[in-house]
Amino acid sequence: MSHLLPMPVMRSVAGLRAVVAAWHAEGLRVALVPTMGALHDGHLTLVRRGLELADRVVASVFVNPTQFGPSEDFSAYPRREAVDAELLAGAGAHGLYAPTVAEMYPAGFATTVSVAGVSEGLCGAFRPGHFAGVATVVAKLLLQARPDIALFGEKDYQQLQVIRRMVRDLDIPVSIVGVPTVRDADGLAMSSRNAYLTEAERAIAPALFRTLTQIAARLAAGGPAAEQEDWGAAVLLGAGFASVDYLELRDAESLDRLDRLDRPGRLLVAAHLGKARLLDNIAVTPR
Ligand code: PAF
Repeated sequence: MSHLLPMPVMRSVAGLRAVVAAWHAEGLRVALVPTMGALHDGHLTLVRRGLELADRVVASVFVNPTQFGPSEDFSAYPRREAVDAELLAGAGAHGLYAPTVAEMYPAGFATTVSVAGVSEGLCGAFRPGHFAGVATVVAKLLLQARPDIALFGEKDYQQLQVIRRMVRDLDIPVSIVGVPTVRDADGLAMSSRNAYLTEAERAIAPALFRTLTQIAARLAAGGPAAEQEDWGAAVLLGAGFASVDYLELRDAESLDRLDRLDRPGRLLVAAHLGKARLLDNIAVTPR
């Protein structure tokens, strides 16, 4: 399919499968970029990376109801498919899959994919059922599209580890590619939920990345992780964050708790600022 042709928008599983099957019949390698829309440069970076690794890139836009809790922002979540379609076409994507909720979860739908271990703790502790919703919809998207590779941002690091575990455990024939977080110039990780920040809150938000970076340096110097985690949480509250759900050092792969930095780790944070719950994480390596 040429970039000069309009980018096809698929609404049904059958439509998506027909397009991907035609690409595969031509011997082309296909990448899937799952998203919930409200696209920003972080998502478009996934598309661009997909274009480097595959011949065809299809992005999905689906605000997945099953990964939102009853008091979360499912109805308020930004939806702007026409703008997203333009951005995707501009980035070079070859197709958009935008199913309805009824197509994804037809009447009688009764299956949930739940990944033990990596789903527990961190966001899993604060958003019960969230990762089961993510795992279920991602399993469906992978089985619907049957791509060769699928790309996810490291910004949602726990989600990425949940998806890697699920794909290994269920023998889903796809390579999962994690793509480094894209940041604004002041370090704030790009996120669709940054749109919830007021101007004043947006000025406070870069403290998240700045604090993680400072803690990483302090952890590399040795000492118990708990001290640095407490210090970091206090810094964030002092900067204007309303609350910190967690700020923790974890093993980079298993996400098991680390008491000190004695192997490759990941420092992960979730904190509330105004209406937004912001996530970030960075790699931390022992000296
Ligand atoms: O990261 C997201 O946008 C969503 O959790 C995903 C992976 C598209 C599943 O709905």
